[in-house]
Amino acid sequence: MTTTAETAELIGAGVDRVDGPAKVTGAARYPADFGFVNLAHAVLVQSTVAAGRIRRLATSRAEASPGVLTVITHRNAPRLARAPGGLGIGPPPPLQDDRIVHHGQHIAVVVAETLEQAAAAARLVEADYQAAEPLLDVGDPRAERVDNASGRDVSRGDVAAGMAAAEVIVDATYTTPVQTNNPLGLFASTAYWDGDLLTVHDSTQGPMFVRAALAAAFGIPETAVRVLAPFVGGAFGAGLRTWPHVVLAAVAARMVDRPVKLVLSRAQMFTSVGYRPPTVQHLRIGARRTGELVVIDHEGIEPTALQDEYAESLTRATSVLYDCPHLSGRTRQVRLNVACPTWMRGPGESPGVYALECALDELAWELGMDPVELRLRNYAEVHPQTGLPWASKALRACYEQGAERFGWAERTPEPRSMRHGRLLVGYGMATAYYGYVQVPCQARASLGQDGVALVRSAATDVGPGTYTVMTQVAADTLGLPLDRVRFELGDSTMPPAPLQGGSGLTAALGSAVHEACRQLLQAFVQLAAGDAESPLHGYLVQDVTTADGHIIPVHAAGPGETYTAILARHGLAELTADGASARRRDLDAEPGIFAAKFAEVQVDPDLGLVRVTRLVAAVDGGRILNEKTAASQIIGGSAGGIGMALLEETMSDPGTGRIANATLGDYLVAVNADVPDIDVIFVGEPDPMNPIGVKGIGEVAIVGVAPAIANAVFHATGRRIRSLPIAPEQLL
Ligand code: MOS
Repeated sequence: MTTTAETAELIGAGVDRVDGPAKVTGAARYPADFGFVNLAHAVLVQSTVAAGRIRRLATSRAEASPGVLTVITHRNAPRLARAPGGLGIGPPPPLQDDRIVHHGQHIAVVVAETLEQAAAAARLVEADYQAAEPLLDVGDPRAERVDNASGRDVSRGDVAAGMAAAEVIVDATYTTPVQTNNPLGLFASTAYWDGDLLTVHDSTQGPMFVRAALAAAFGIPETAVRVLAPFVGGAFGAGLRTWPHVVLAAVAARMVDRPVKLVLSRAQMFTSVGYRPPTVQHLRIGARRTGELVVIDHEGIEPTALQDEYAESLTRATSVLYDCPHLSGRTRQVRLNVACPTWMRGPGESPGVYALECALDELAWELGMDPVELRLRNYAEVHPQTGLPWASKALRACYEQGAERFGWAERTPEPRSMRHGRLLVGYGMATAYYGYVQVPCQARASLGQDGVALVRSAATDVGPGTYTVMTQVAADTLGLPLDRVRFELGDSTMPPAPLQGGSGLTAALGSAVHEACRQLLQAFVQLAAGDAESPLHGYLVQDVTTADGHIIPVHAAGPGETYTAILARHGLAELTADGASARRRDLDAEPGIFAAKFAEVQVDPDLGLVRVTRLVAAVDGGRILNEKTAASQIIGGSAGGIGMALLEETMSDPGTGRIANATLGDYLVAVNADVPDIDVIFVGEPDPMNPIGVKGIGEVAIVGVAPAIANAVFHATGRRIRSLPIAPEQLL
């Protein structure tokens, strides 16, 4: 593990999770694990209508119930300000008036000595409504439409001219359902006030953002709020906003002047922390007989909330994936009486690429062309919208290596032409893209007389392995064994970090950790260089390497000197250094993450049952810091993609908006029996956009899986199912 400071060899070895033992022994504390002697418990009461006003809210029976400390409603809740969100504006503050805008809206909070007392009393709160007819259908002409809310609609060329010139046109509409993020860990907030200082343990993807939101809500300085999230039980995007229940936990703690814990129930998770909005997507793709794309027109419609903001682009990937001269991509939001949707793994791209890649499969079939060949024929050598080169792009290698590993060449093109016993076999593939974001980040590193480096940043690790890869980056940069590095995160008092989202945290945080450790090494070298007794006397940081706790001159014999010896000789307890990172702006190049997904399905022709039997994901994620945790990300995303293709669908009553399957027994996620061994291949080179060469793979892990499966189902059965999930009844 010898490195120089300038070219730290940031490695891909499959290191085990450094936080694994803490998680499996229960030592890792999640937001609901924090107890206090005088802890009180809060339970939410939610609206049973989707629109209207609260006519009567009777709380006296609940208030008189054993153990109840208070019942909070719009009548006695403090006035709160609307907060900035994680991205964009935050949700409207809760309990501010009697209006109801969606089913499941919080209308009261019961706070009691025990969870059981709070839950029992919550059932005694009686609400009568002056109900209005809710807007629940994106086709409702009364609903307000919002064009291009994400600002990412895109066009080039002339779509009408392209349609006229095309020799073959595929025209199809695809739909995807509501899907709910459903992290295993129920979202929880434990809040307490010490005078005017607020501390909250929260299920979030960004403590800094919760801090800002709570400070704004209560009109207090950000320095008066501390948010902690060292462990979070998953989120998939649901933790990118500060949702109303977080604010309510802090309101309750202030009102009863005690620590308060608020844990959402599984049913409440379906209405309180967002979900992937359903989509209707109309695609028209025109091509020449030889396979060259001439035109793509892609319009998506999805609902958003009546009084809240969420917008994603369903067509961003459409505009960048292929070299196609005429193109229009548009996303339209429709305001309905629904809980606010939010980011869910691969937001925008997951449903958008599903529609695009299924339409391309339809085109390939029309043309009698191999689906991989069609993609290669339209390969975007440069960014097709801006004309700039890609910072790095190894998608061709993804196709080639993925196809090779999968055995794509065995595929016989005709649907229903491949069988395994009585089962129909299908091979399908799809391209995946994600436009990751890298935003500024900071970290601090210190090394003391115990020889242990402590590195910190206010980021989170909601599961991908951030603790582990940051430990690796620091260990490699400083030349320390892994067990001589302690990486800490999840505390808003640490150096500021962005949200763990948009597939950008590894690039942002890894670069900041790398820089902080380089600065720390430099501080040690400077100290030793000025010291005549040091073997490093007169050396500069570029003249040394590091290994096993030593700083070693590159061109001189001898073991150099240890960090701890340098500290000891100068009578110092420790040295500390800060590092910051931001995406490079000096490269005229476009960032992008690419992958190719290949799926095999077996379909029972009598029962319509679809099994995914093989899945190959070939991913260009730049430099892979840890092949084990990275592969784990791709496997997890693939399981999500299988769920999206075949299982996951949040169903609500069309008349009332009540969610009908808000349990993990009724909302089907992929389980082990649904997920085959997933073959993950990483291709590509370190990306020049940041000093550690990483891109980010969290979202591209799920993108492309559902269309690869849907295309495999067509190949197996000859049936083109254009609505997800592909359920047995659609195949009978
Ligand atoms: Mo991701 S949906 O940005 O957590």
